[in-house]
Amino acid sequence: MGKKVSKKMKFHIKTYGCQMNERDSEKVYCIFEEAGFVESGIEDADVVVVNSCAVREKAESKIYSEIGRIKSINKKAKVIAMGCVAQFNYEKLKRVSDFVVGTSAIDKFYDIVNNIESKGIFVYDKMDNANYIFPHRKGINAFVDIMYGCNNFCTYCIVPFTRGREISRTKESIIEEIKQLVDNGTKEVMLLGQNVNSYGHKLGYSFVDLLYDIDKIDGLERLRFTTSHPKDFSSDLIYAIRDLNTLCEHIHLPIQSGSNRILKLMKRGYTKEEYLEKVYLYKEIIHKGSITTDIIVGFPTETEDDFQETINIVKDVEYDTSFSFKYSKRPLTKAKDIEPQVDEDVKLKRLNRLQDLQASITQKKNRESVDNIFEVLVEGKSKKGNMLFGRNRQNTVVNFEFKGNIKPGDVVNVKITKALKHSLVGELL
Ligand code: SAH
Ligand code: SF4
Ligand code: F3S
Repeated sequence: MGKKVSKKMKFHIKTYGCQMNERDSEKVYCIFEEAGFVESGIEDADVVVVNSCAVREKAESKIYSEIGRIKSINKKAKVIAMGCVAQFNYEKLKRVSDFVVGTSAIDKFYDIVNNIESKGIFVYDKMDNANYIFPHRKGINAFVDIMYGCNNFCTYCIVPFTRGREISRTKESIIEEIKQLVDNGTKEVMLLGQNVNSYGHKLGYSFVDLLYDIDKIDGLERLRFTTSHPKDFSSDLIYAIRDLNTLCEHIHLPIQSGSNRILKLMKRGYTKEEYLEKVYLYKEIIHKGSITTDIIVGFPTETEDDFQETINIVKDVEYDTSFSFKYSKRPLTKAKDIEPQVDEDVKLKRLNRLQDLQASITQKKNRESVDNIFEVLVEGKSKKGNMLFGRNRQNTVVNFEFKGNIKPGDVVNVKITKALKHSLVGELL
């Protein structure tokens, strides 16, 4: 009689959306692994998790098509819907999934892995374990949540409805998480929040205080953060970037529109002039600092003149990269009722114009980097040839020829020899 071989359960995770979703998926990955599951393709999986994004209509529709696709490939797999769509549209998702897990209920996966044959809906308004330290996968880079939710209610945005009210994690819990990461070999930490500049308001401890405390952690090489809200972005943060060794010279500062009339309708809380004043100070104080942004084109009532103001600001600031989107009507938001909405083809034409402009600026800036020397944190092997890749402190990808015993996690100096569309090539010094 042979011994009974217990077969390991298999899981697969598909992730849409922003870094916060990526981090949440990592938490779920670790919970499955700790429970003895192994990762597999969809065909072989016993359970498939879809982590959803609701920020634009197209993103939202993906979870439904993906669940349909999973069912056509693997009828037997349990399906778990999680993320931002799960939080606000669980009624619809429960009809096509075995479990629905909202954004405040990631800890429920600890129960789900032990009861995978059951079903359940775990969607809560409030997060009650913000300070819990979820596990990480081993790696050179790590995402660390410093706050959850958002209180801004920009009129186009569904995030405050999918991620709930703003809540900051304590300094102790964040520092402990980063110390654990560094002990495990992590070199670079990206702090995550929808509006990191408002971190700690209720704790009497500011975001900049937090940066100073994290910078002291032994063994941490680099520190980054996203996203900064321009209304709360202050000069003391600029000085922290100048003065803290670990803090990288890059800010992501979403402008959304260059028209004051549109910014007001968006309820962004700043004018174009206030925004530019902060950018000019950043450029003056930070040597070789990079700046990236998010832009929405075709917000309701946007005219050609409004759009031209966005174009002007992009030319003026010369962003290193920008992420631009056609406005998408979202449920629960105020802007969905603002009239007139802009025609789809007008939105598309504006988007193309903006993206062409940005591509030329990015290329120009990459070309200007040739002959410059950058500090690169090595992340791994490049896809082609005998090359390694990493990023400079400005967050641009740099590829260079492999030499000696350089390995991921090392910090090296690279002289740029060639500019590509979205990355740089250089030689090791
Ligand atoms: N908290 C971040 C943004 C999170 S959402 C911030 O305030 O900057 C990421 C980006 O998606 C936004 O910056 C915005 O440019 C875009 N976005 C949000 N809602 C959108 C909508 N309804 N239509 C199109 N783009 C949208
Ligand atoms: Fe959305 Fe505005 Fe909050 Fe960013 S700050 S998540 S755009 S509501
Ligand atoms: Fe992120 Fe999309 Fe949710 S952008 S916060 S996953 S709606």
